[in-house]
Amino acid sequence: MNTLPRLSLAALPTPVQPLPRLSAELGFRLLVKRDDLTGLAFGGNKTRKLELLLAEAQAQEAEVVLTTGAAQSNHCRQTAAAAARLGLACHLVLMEPPKPSGNLLLDGLLGAHVTWTPRTRRDEALQEAAEAERAAGRRPYVVPYGGSNALGAAAYAYALEELLAQGFTPDAIVFATSSGGTQAGLVAGARLLGFRGRILGISVDEPADVLRPRVAALAGETAALLGKPADFRPEDVVVEDAYAAPGYGVLTEAEIRAILRLARAEGLLVDPVYTGRAMAGLLDLASQGYFARDETVLFWHTGGTPALFAADYAEALQGAASDII
Ligand SMILES: Cc1ncc(COP(=O)(O)O)c(C=O)c1O
Repeated sequence: MNTLPRLSLAALPTPVQPLPRLSAELGFRLLVKRDDLTGLAFGGNKTRKLELLLAEAQAQEAEVVLTTGAAQSNHCRQTAAAAARLGLACHLVLMEPPKPSGNLLLDGLLGAHVTWTPRTRRDEALQEAAEAERAAGRRPYVVPYGGSNALGAAAYAYALEELLAQGFTPDAIVFATSSGGTQAGLVAGARLLGFRGRILGISVDEPADVLRPRVAALAGETAALLGKPADFRPEDVVVEDAYAAPGYGVLTEAEIRAILRLARAEGLLVDPVYTGRAMAGLLDLASQGYFARDETVLFWHTGGTPALFAADYAEALQGAASDII
């Protein structure tokens, strides 16, 4: 694979850890890759993408980094932290409504300038914010939604290379998928590195019919960027959307049960929006016999844990912690 210009923002390699009690309960070997420990202001998958994206920002001599996301966006929080670490200004265009806690609190601590937009105007609002920065005399660099262009996605091809170098070749990798960059990088990396395990994205919001062609196209662009052009079809991309129905960020009993089960069986925290939903999906699939007894399954923990402290989630979890289990 091409070696793309890359900053060092994450503490790599992230650990791979066994989950022995959960494995015994489930009847197959379950491992976790701890990208919640990438280390930049509470970590997460976006830190890897930002190592490549902000290398490009620096090469373009950008002075302000802009991006967009939900009010509780982990991507925006990690972008704000990366910008601070590089001495750049950060302008976040967040989707209403504002609820000042969790990630949004951290955005403020990290010095990001925040403007608000209705969800429907997200992309226009981001472009307008970049124009406003330019008009004010600062050279902008726009990080796409989720950090999910080919450059950002390439970080997960490198991440798969890192996993293989750590000596792990799981039969399946399971993780939360949304804008698709993480999955596209893993899918491209798998092809380029000859990894044959299943790469199962559990959608937290989008239908599989939307995500599979999107991820396939992005994986193709990513492979080309990495110097090994390859074609990907939607059928090459495995997305399970059965758990997306409640909608983005809606905390249901399934996520609450998954959060409590992981916390109590393994001392491991997953988040309400992404990893909690993906883990709830993994546990449900396991209960249906989706994974064979001799398989090794790796749950790729993509972070997001500051959302546990977002006011609405914290309140629901506080109540559940005493009465669900
Ligand atoms: C914690 C967490 N997990 C998973 C994802 C999904 O990654 P992607 O947008 O690359 O599909 C995100 C995206 O925001 C995230 O914050």
